[in-house]
Amino acid sequence: MKKLGILISGRGSNMVALADAVAQGRISDAEIALVISNVATAGGLAKAQERGIATVVLDHRGKTREEHDRTMATELHKHEVDLVCLAGYMRLLSPWFIREFSQRILNIHPSLLPAFPGLDAQKQAFEYGVKFSGCTVHFVDEELDHGAIIRQAIVPVLPGDDDHTLASRILVEEHKSYAEAVKLVLSEKFRVEGRRVIEEA
Ligand code: GAR
Repeated sequence: MKKLGILISGRGSNMVALADAVAQGRISDAEIALVISNVATAGGLAKAQERGIATVVLDHRGKTREEHDRTMATELHKHEVDLVCLAGYMRLLSPWFIREFSQRILNIHPSLLPAFPGLDAQKQAFEYGVKFSGCTVHFVDEELDHGAIIRQAIVPVLPGDDDHTLASRILVEEHKSYAEAVKLVLSEKFRVEGRRVIEEA
């Protein structure tokens, strides 16, 4: 049984999507061991608790990045977490944390990376005028929104869209892509060659 630890800062819809995928058996032999939020008012906390998932709030304020990350790692190790999933976790991780969970941290980002890294990716894409955007699930490395890409999904920008309607259509794809990526990573049926994640039959 593989154990997932999910880091959130907000509403937690991707966390819920992963929890549903586990509950429905689309991700098998896994459980969500812990949800950590750095924000006490994050809406995702109640959604995790409703599903019987353990939650911890670890406020990052007043600590260095690494101090905060070490407190997170202590909790994750206590729950024997195998894979860390960032789901709207809006903080950079320290190099220490990334080494501690080397190749075992995934992130979801609401654009087709390497386009539009950083904050408000859907708005960046909309304002740039792209005709297609989407989402990316990738391994986390020491550069922002940069690690090897596991899954992407394409979402067209439609006439009449604004950044909010585009973001909500991207979110639907995020939920599917994240569950697929976690399933693949837990299956270990892939290899990484440089930046390329290659699925194995
Ligand atoms: C999602 O769109 C996620 O891709 C994005 O924040 C949102 C969180 O929503 N993450 C980032 O922009 C990280 N760079 P959620 O809390 O409902 O999952």
